[in-house]
Amino acid sequence: MTTSTHSFPQGFVWGAATAAYQIEGAWNEDGKGESIWDRFSHTPGKVMDDANGDVACDHYHRYQEDVELMRSLGLKAYRLSVSWPRVLPNGIAPANPKGIAFYDRLIDALLNAGIEPFITLYHWDLPVALQDRGGWGNRDVAGWFADYAALMVRALGDRVRYWITLNEPWCVAFLGHDLGVHAPGIRDRRLALQVVHNTLLSHGAAVQAIRAAGDAQTQVGITLNFQPNLPATDDPADQAAADSALDSLYEWFAHPILRGYYSDRVLRYAGPDAPTIRAGDMSLISARNDFLGVNYYTVSFYRAVDGKAEQVELPGLEYTLMNWAVVPRGLTMVLHRLSRDSHGRLPLYITENGCSYLDQVGPDGRIHDAKRVEYLRAHFAAAQQAIQEGVDVRGYFVWSLMDNFEWAWGYRQWFGVVAVDYATQKRTIKESGYYLRDVIAANAVL
Ligand code: FCB
Repeated sequence: MTTSTHSFPQGFVWGAATAAYQIEGAWNEDGKGESIWDRFSHTPGKVMDDANGDVACDHYHRYQEDVELMRSLGLKAYRLSVSWPRVLPNGIAPANPKGIAFYDRLIDALLNAGIEPFITLYHWDLPVALQDRGGWGNRDVAGWFADYAALMVRALGDRVRYWITLNEPWCVAFLGHDLGVHAPGIRDRRLALQVVHNTLLSHGAAVQAIRAAGDAQTQVGITLNFQPNLPATDDPADQAAADSALDSLYEWFAHPILRGYYSDRVLRYAGPDAPTIRAGDMSLISARNDFLGVNYYTVSFYRAVDGKAEQVELPGLEYTLMNWAVVPRGLTMVLHRLSRDSHGRLPLYITENGCSYLDQVGPDGRIHDAKRVEYLRAHFAAAQQAIQEGVDVRGYFVWSLMDNFEWAWGYRQWFGVVAVDYATQKRTIKESGYYLRDVIAANAVL
C-alpha cells in the first residue's frame, strides 16, 4: 500500500488529553476550593487504595516541563480541563485570580510551544459548595455553569479557540448518581435521570454563554462517550439482542443533542423516573454545536439467552487492564453513525481514545508498551478508514498524555503514553509516545 492510503487530511489535529483532577494536584493551594472529587477521594473506601488526587502528577507545579514533553512529542494540540473550584472556589463569583492565573500561564506556555489548546470546562470536579446546593441535581446548575463558562472565555478566549462544555455527562449522571462509584457517590436513579437533563441543559446554556463571550473564531462543542452494542456472533438472534439492548450512552445524550428530543425507548425505560422537562429546554439542548467530541474505548457484546439480551465477554478477544475489549471497528461504526445522524454537518474530533496496560520497563530502561502501540495503530487506522469513507473527522486526542489518577481505580490503571513515577514525579516517554510522535510527524498510520 502507498503512504497516501494511510494518510490523514492536511492540518489534522493530533493531540493528547488529560483532566485537571487527574493530573494537577495542588488540591488546596492558592485559594482553590474543594471539589466533589477531593471530598469523595478523602472518604475512606471510595477509591482503590484510598488514593486521591492531592498531588497526582503535580502538573500544577510542573506544567512547564509537561509542555516541553508535549513539544518533544510534536503534539499539535492538547486537551486539558479547567478545575471549576480552582477558578471559582464557591462555584460562583467571586473568582480566584490565582486560579485563573495558572491557566493563563499554561495557555501561554502551550501557545509558545505551538500547541493549540482545547479546553474542557467540566471534567467531573464540581465545587463542593455547589454540591451542597444540590449540584447537578439542581436545575440552577445551568446558570452557574454558564456563568463559569463565560468567565473562562473572557479570561482566555483571546487565545483559546476550542471550548468543550462537559466531558462524558453519561458518567456524571450514572456513575456519579445512579451507581455511586464516582463523586458525589449517590445512588438514586430518579435523581440520576434528572442529572442527565440538567447536564444537557447546562451544556446548552454554556454554548450560548461561550458564543456571547467569544468572537467569530470561537468553536464550541461537547464531548460524549460512546460504547455501541454489538452482537456476540453473526447469529441473527444475537443481532436482535444487541439491537434490543438500550444504548443508554447514545440515547440519553447524542440523541437529544442531535435530534432535539428523548427517544420513546429511553423514556419508556425511565418510566416514572423520567426527568422533568420545561418548555424551551429541548431547543436549548439541541442548539447547533460547532463540533462534537467523541470518546471511544470499547463496545458491549450481546447474546440472545432465553429470548433475553445478555451482555457477554468474547473469549479469544484482546482485553485491556480495564477489561475493555479491543474492537477498533467500533470506532469506525460510531463515527459513521454520528456522521449520518448529523447529516454530515457536524465536524467530529476524537477527544479520547487509548488503553490501560501494566507496562514493563525493559533491560534497556525503556518502556516497551507494545500492546498500547498496537491498540493505537489499530484505532488510528479505524478512524482513518472512516475519514476515507467520507466522515468529517478533524482531530484525534490520545488518552492520555501521561499516567494519572484514574478515578475510582486510583493509580492502578496506566493510560499514558508517558509514564509517571509518582514517588519522584519523573516522566518517561513510553514506546507508544515515540510511536505517536512518529505518526504525528508522518500524519499517517505507521
Ligand atoms: C474516560 C474519562 C477519562 C479517563 C478515561 C480512561 O471516561 O473521560 O477521564 O478516565 O475514561
